[in-house]
Amino acid sequence: MDVLRGARIVLGVSGGIAAYKSVEICRRLVDAGAHVSPVMTKGATKFLGEATLSALASEPVQTELWGGPDPIPHTRLGQKADLIVIAPATARVIAAYAIGLSTDLLTNTLLATRAPVVLCPAMHTEMWEHPAVADNLRLLRSRGVIVVDPESGRLAGGDLGTGRLASPERIIAAVAAALGPKDLAGLKVLISAGGTREPIDAVRVITNRSSGKQGYALASEAVSRGAQVTLVTTVDLIVPAGVSLVKVETAAQMQDAMTAEAASSDVIIMAAAVADFRPVQAAENKLKKSDGLPAITLEPTPDILAGLGANRRAGQTLVGFAAETDDLIINAEKKLAAKGADLIVANDVGAESVGFAHDTNAVSLIRPDHAPRAIALASKAKIAAAVWDEILQIRSHNSPSEPNR
Ligand code: CTP
Repeated sequence: MDVLRGARIVLGVSGGIAAYKSVEICRRLVDAGAHVSPVMTKGATKFLGEATLSALASEPVQTELWGGPDPIPHTRLGQKADLIVIAPATARVIAAYAIGLSTDLLTNTLLATRAPVVLCPAMHTEMWEHPAVADNLRLLRSRGVIVVDPESGRLAGGDLGTGRLASPERIIAAVAAALGPKDLAGLKVLISAGGTREPIDAVRVITNRSSGKQGYALASEAVSRGAQVTLVTTVDLIVPAGVSLVKVETAAQMQDAMTAEAASSDVIIMAAAVADFRPVQAAENKLKKSDGLPAITLEPTPDILAGLGANRRAGQTLVGFAAETDDLIINAEKKLAAKGADLIVANDVGAESVGFAHDTNAVSLIRPDHAPRAIALASKAKIAAAVWDEILQIRSHNSPSEPNR
């Protein structure tokens, strides 16, 4: 998260029970090298002591428009900020911001900035679902405000529902995304992630060890760098803010979802581990042990990547993965040609800490007429950044009317 180093961030905290979670967000921003100026509303101070945030932030908390050492604190804060993040953002602050009402230091600061604003709403489910709140957020989104949607879970008072402040990881990722370079702006990107699950009967499936983490990291990196991202996935991981999600299970469903989006996409990445075989017919009910060993007839699944390669339009960049345990480069080069891809990201899934389910990966990038480029063991986020750099390089060498060879 190098983009956070030296960034001047106003952390606005408004009056909800989730105010205590702003402490963790503040700490993580400061640890990442950001300069954090905290601003609390009166309501926030009922939930969280000013001293706590002051101790952790880069400067003391400010709460007042009047009477402090700075005669016009909102313009200083607003003009100097590289970004303002409000966590939690209450219904009141959201409404005030939507109609341009400045009632306190925080709402004044919001109007006195040209920096990107990240709003992280948190409130009870009834309030979150109220049409007034939804309309205000729609309006703010249309003005370019980034909204990190709340999550579902236990709320104050023990209720269960949507409205819980997003996790610190998601909020920090959204802040980093808003501050980062936007070299993928204007690109529509389609990514698949996770292992497909092919039903044997009502409860059993054929699947593989893919966790989907590398596909999610590619989606997260792309959205941070300004792309419009659709992620077709079989797994439930934290979805990066701004990514639109299509949930699927089987290879056939993944093929339908990918095909539906393919024509309008500039870059397609098949990071999913698609099962190569599926039962011809899944039993409707659970097969019983007492009926003896089941006779399962298998058939091949469609090769989604090869289909996308055969049908791709001019100017589209197609990227596949190769999961290999032997002859990594030779097999990956064969896949590059067979599937009509511009780039194969090859990983040796037999090596330690590489590939399926790990948080780290090591890959070789294989392109037609280029020597393989090895990317040493690194986090899946770093690997994702290197893959996107390579894709940009491929696209910069090709005319928009030609397939990206
Ligand atoms: N892939 C696909 N559809 C399939 C199988 C694979 O789209 N039915 C894609 C994967 O998403 C990946 C690439 O093809 O981008 C290579 O997948 P991999 O599992 O490494 O190879 P396979 O083509 O399945 O061949 P093999 O299992 O024999 O290595």
